[in-house]
Amino acid sequence: MKMFNVYPTYDIEIVKALGSTVWDSNGVEYLDMYGGHAVISIGHTHPHYVEMLTSQLSKIGFYSNSVKISLQDELAEKLGRLSGKEDYSLFMCNSGAEANENALKLASFHNGKKKVISLRGAFHGRTSLAVMATDNPKIQAPVNHTDNVVFIPAGDKEALKAEFASGDVCAVIMEGIQGVGGIILADDDFVRLVRELCDANNAVFIADNVQCGCGRSGKYYYEDHAGVKADIYTMAKGIGNGFPVGAIAISPKFKPVYGMLGTTFGGNQLACAAAIAVCDVIEQDKLIDNAAKMGDYLMSEISSLGCGAIKDVRGKGLMIGVELDCDTAEFRKKLLFDKKIFVGSSGNKQVFRLLPALSINQSHCDKLLSALKELL
Ligand SMILES: Cc1ncc(COP(=O)(O)O)c(C=O)c1O
Repeated sequence: MKMFNVYPTYDIEIVKALGSTVWDSNGVEYLDMYGGHAVISIGHTHPHYVEMLTSQLSKIGFYSNSVKISLQDELAEKLGRLSGKEDYSLFMCNSGAEANENALKLASFHNGKKKVISLRGAFHGRTSLAVMATDNPKIQAPVNHTDNVVFIPAGDKEALKAEFASGDVCAVIMEGIQGVGGIILADDDFVRLVRELCDANNAVFIADNVQCGCGRSGKYYYEDHAGVKADIYTMAKGIGNGFPVGAIAISPKFKPVYGMLGTTFGGNQLACAAAIAVCDVIEQDKLIDNAAKMGDYLMSEISSLGCGAIKDVRGKGLMIGVELDCDTAEFRKKLLFDKKIFVGSSGNKQVFRLLPALSINQSHCDKLLSALKELL
């Protein structure tokens, strides 16, 4: 059997990693400013993470949700504290798409309504309703099609009000910072308006923090910058630092009913150990503050490089988009093969993304800066 070939890949095999450094099978060293697509939050192979996972595996790796798993309670308590949402409840699953599916279902169970408002440029995953809330018809199969999702332009307050005025809104789902969309930030006023309109219309505010969450923006959830609480936060990527963990944090207004949500793998012992280790390291090493500081440093230094090819630098914390005056594909190849630095692409061909571990330091940033200066 062969792999089903759906990924265009670089001819590089990463076999070892530490912090923000990775090595390929030929022993070549790279700087990882991509974090395997915003997944690596506390750095690769962090000793506490390795210890928590290996010692858990030697005890028990998996048992299903038919028995008590006290590691889930420990994680819920730690996540609640770290995110400042101690009165929220946690439901665990395995990926970002699954987190969004569960959030959308929960919203509809809660208010009995169907219409979901999503934003142009959004990416919420590849499963049934999540993919229909994603602004990319190429990845929506005929079997996915539904009239339950409507799109409005990102940040368009009048369009948002008009959709609410036409009634029956179940939920608004949005990424505070659109990642795949090319690092498009929701402004505070828009986030507040979503909150207000959801409150006034018995609709549910789902904040997709799969990419921008877990401290990456310099606050645990992006919406914290606007002082707004969403009803459901969806998470994945950074929460497990590479172990597949998805989760939703649910406001106390939702009442759980046995069987309304469920999963075989979600919340297993290994997944909990990984996510607990991530919380521990983020808290102990103050990685959310570090993300804010390193993000400001990177954005201001890139902006002042004086490179004519750079049209815009935008983002929050360590979720940064650099827009060039051309397609970034060739540039990213040069950065990777000549300078040995990984960065990410985006749905906007002129924007490349920086999504490094929240633990990067100034010397990592300076290495990237000098490479950008030489190449652009
Ligand atoms: C904002 C956002 N939501 C959801 C997803 C889907 O996550 P997953 O690939 O874990 O299903 C992604 C993945 O890139 C994402 O960036």
